[in-house]
This record gives sequence, C-alpha cells and structure tokens, in this order.
Amino acid sequence: MLKLTGVGKRYPDGLAALEGLDLTIRDGSFTSIVGPSGCGKSTLLRLIAGLAAPTEGAITGLDEGSIGLVFQDATLMPWADVFANVYLPFRLAGVSRVAASPRIEEALSLVGLLDFRGAYPRALSGGMRMRVAIARAIATKPRLLLMDEPFAALDEITRNKLNDDLLRLWREGDFTTIFITHSVFESVYLSTDIAVMTARPGRIFARYEIAGPTARDSEFRASAVYLDGCRAVSRDLERVMSMGAP
Ligand SMILES: Nc1ncnc2c1ncn2[C@@H]1O[C@H](COP(=O)(O)OP(=O)(O)OP(=O)(O)O)[C@@H](O)[C@H]1O
Ligand SMILES: [Mg+2]
Repeated sequence: MLKLTGVGKRYPDGLAALEGLDLTIRDGSFTSIVGPSGCGKSTLLRLIAGLAAPTEGAITGLDEGSIGLVFQDATLMPWADVFANVYLPFRLAGVSRVAASPRIEEALSLVGLLDFRGAYPRALSGGMRMRVAIARAIATKPRLLLMDEPFAALDEITRNKLNDDLLRLWREGDFTTIFITHSVFESVYLSTDIAVMTARPGRIFARYEIAGPTARDSEFRASAVYLDGCRAVSRDLERVMSMGAP
C-alpha cells in the first residue's frame, strides 16, 4: 500500500504546488487522478516516482526501483529502433541485450508490436509510439505503473483502443496503476479508484471507488455505475474549479 501523508511540495521559487495531501493507493488498484490544470498532478506523480522530493510530509510503501513511467508524449529516442527503445531501462540497469531480450519481446507482443521491433519511431503512428512507451514501462515488470496523461494527444478511437489494451495489461499483470487524466469519462471507464484534486496548492478533494466489473466494455459505458461516476466526478471538478485558489 502506497501512502502519502501531509505531502507538500514548494518549488524553489516559493510556489506551493501541493499542500497537506493525504492519499492511500491500494495495492493492485487502478487509481486515476483528476483535477484542474496546474493543480499539481504531474508534481504528485514526480514525487511518487522519486524524481523529486516532497518539502513536507512523507511517502511510504514504495518499492525502490520498481516503477514504470509513461509521460504524455512517448519520449522515445528517435535514433534508436523499437527494440532498443524498450531495452533502455535494462541498459540503464546494466542488463545485457541478450538477457533482456525475452522480457522485451514479451512486452512488445503484449502491446501488439513485436513485428515492429526493428522500426524507428518516425515510421510509427502516435498510437504505436505510445504502445512502445507502454512496453518500455512494463518490460521490467514494475509493481507500480505511473502514467501522466498518456493518451491526451491521441484521437478518440485510438485512445479508446489503448484504454482497453491498458486495462487488459493491468488485469493480466500484477501491478498498481496511477493514471492522470483530464478526461472524466476515461477516469471512470478505467478505474477502480478515483481521486479528485483541488486547485493549487493541490490536495485530495474527493475519493471514489468505481464498483462494477473490472472487465470494462461498451456495456459498462451504458451502466448506472459508469454514468453516476461520471456525474459525481464532473460535479466535483466544477466545484474545485469554482473554489479557485485560497
Ligand atoms: N520545476 C518547477 N519549478 C517551479 N514551478 C513548477 C515546476 N513544475 C511545476 N511547477 C508549478 O507547479 C504547479 C503545478 O504544476 P503541475 O505540472 O504539477 O500541474 P498539473 O496538475 O500537472 O497541470 P496540467 O494539468 O496542466 O498538466 C504549476 O503552477 C506549475 O507552474
Ligand atoms: Mg501535468
């Protein structure tokens, strides 16, 4: 269980991005975080990833070195082919190509891109590039997958397809996912848990558990659970946005 207690982050210029943030993430959950633009969502993810340290409070329950990260843009190395891009985290850990190869091939086949192992990023569509980034993040079998608006730049059909692919990976895998999105619909469709943040300085405004099947499909989009969830989260977002900065 990942636990954030009284977490604050003040940047060196004095700006308080987060303040008094308490959040518990259940092991194995798919937790989405939604909140107004600039409320500190990416900051929160960077703290959880250990890329920055909180200036107040504590984060406990983290498993060192077992985190996969996916950002909004796929952040692939353009000069390296798909295989080499997915190899990167292994290379950084000092694992040889040969030793990493089975894991890389497994991850690429999970995202449906094994045939593209020799392709370069420029030859791939945006959706395919994002799949490579996801393969790279899950190839090392992390316990925690952190995603910062990974599908925001994609068209709706590709996004829906990747949503379903991601859910399948999460169901079949054995990891916790923390997913940042601006889309209320996406958050309710994907999640077991949702945290709504206030405007900056961000803290948690509301929490939801989305009941219903973990297998989500078009039927789920028509269900009362889904529609009620969307309504509640939308209403919260309107509230926190009208509250503005304190
Ligand atoms: N390295 C930094 N130095 C100073 N201020 C920063 C830094 N990174 C972010 N901020 C500020 O912290 C606040 C929160 O930024 P953050 O990127 O975490 O928000 P966000 O919720 O992810 O926004 P968005 O929804 O637009 O992605 C913003 O006011 C931003 O300007
Ligand atoms: Mg952000």
